[in-house]
Amino acid sequence: MKIRYSMIGGGPGSFIGAVHRRAAWLDGGFELVGGAFSSNSSQSKSTGEELGLSAERVHGSFEAMLEAEVRLSGEERIQAVSIVTPNHVHAAPAIRALEMGFHVIIDKPLALSLDEAREIEKLVKKTGRVLALTHTYAGYPMVKEARHLVKSGKLGKIRKIFVEYPQGWLSTFLESEGNRQAGWRTDPARSGAGGSVGDIGTHAAHLAEYVSGLRITEICAELNTVVNGRQLDDDAAALLHFEEGASGVLIATQVAAGEENAVKIRVYGELGGLEWIHSNPNSLLFKPLDGPAQIYRAGTGYLHESTSANTRLPAGHPEGYIEAFANIYTGFSRAIQDYEKGNYQGPESYDFPSLEEGIRGMAFIETMIASSKSDKKWTKFSI
Ligand SMILES: NC(=O)c1ccc[n+]([C@@H]2O[C@H](COP(=O)([O-])OP(=O)(O)OC[C@H]3O[C@@H](n4cnc5c(N)ncnc54)[C@H](O)[C@@H]3O)[C@@H](O)[C@H]2O)c1
Repeated sequence: MKIRYSMIGGGPGSFIGAVHRRAAWLDGGFELVGGAFSSNSSQSKSTGEELGLSAERVHGSFEAMLEAEVRLSGEERIQAVSIVTPNHVHAAPAIRALEMGFHVIIDKPLALSLDEAREIEKLVKKTGRVLALTHTYAGYPMVKEARHLVKSGKLGKIRKIFVEYPQGWLSTFLESEGNRQAGWRTDPARSGAGGSVGDIGTHAAHLAEYVSGLRITEICAELNTVVNGRQLDDDAAALLHFEEGASGVLIATQVAAGEENAVKIRVYGELGGLEWIHSNPNSLLFKPLDGPAQIYRAGTGYLHESTSANTRLPAGHPEGYIEAFANIYTGFSRAIQDYEKGNYQGPESYDFPSLEEGIRGMAFIETMIASSKSDKKWTKFSI
């Protein structure tokens, strides 16, 4: 049975909503039945029409949409919502949806602030509903293989973690030119206290913790606003301390002119290192201390079962961004199916980012900002 869901955000001219819709569709686990695609009613309706949805399931506000859904019969009403709005419209719809008994999949960062994220946490704990957070890079099969290699001890005790996310698209004062995505991302009221540190720094921090299996414990950060007139940071870097004595470096910048989404992670242990680059996502480089480097490839027979379970095609047929989102959606659908049978054991059993990662992301933003402003620099990071 497909899970019926509606979308909040993802209207005309938006970015990530359409990616979520394609990802949710890909493995056949979901059926989009309604939405509040925009806070502008006619724009929301026009997206609903384009998607072939019945007009009475499409609304100009998430409140009206949720109220209408909850009045439908159990066989008809949605089971989940997908929240793909700017950060200032994350907490309110998530909390309302959870209160009404719906499961939630939401894009990162979890909320506008750590305080808001804690409000979501209360509702997840109170209702026991499933919440998934789309930290996309954790959905890539070769990132899962990297995590497995670290966990299996192949790299030995982890010593260094380098993670970087350079982009170039905010190299100019784009928000002054009416660019929608730049507009809200550089506005503290809609983005939160972090600019680049929230938008892409949270992805980098999540990737580092996901692959290494180690949590960041202390941060020494520098945030810069490079472009004149911009209200938030557009360039962030930090030295990191992790559990078990590992250390690392994180870079998240949106003013690396000419870069696209050049995510890269390198992890080094006592016995060797690994390297994954987003522009070549189906390869994983393993570099042992005493031997030639090896390239692990997605879709081959020698990978860990969790890697293979997140791959759809034989080796050499590229999979990418939408498939990485789809892997998160598929985990979310399995969790909901189990919930309905009374067997939901919590997000850890399904390997998708969830509430705890969302709370850590918000604490990461706040710790980066606090460290950058403080004289002593090294700042404890915990949730
Ligand atoms: N995981 C990823 O890789 C990734 C990539 C891009 C964006 N994101 C996240 O996704 C979210 C959306 O980003 P985007 O780039 O798609 O933004 P966007 O500006 O392109 O789209 C936002 C959409 O939300 C709608 N919206 C705004 N307020 C609304 C409201 N009150 N009710 C209903 N709809 C409303 C807008 O009309 C628009 O359609 C952000 O939180 C962002 O951080 C994540």
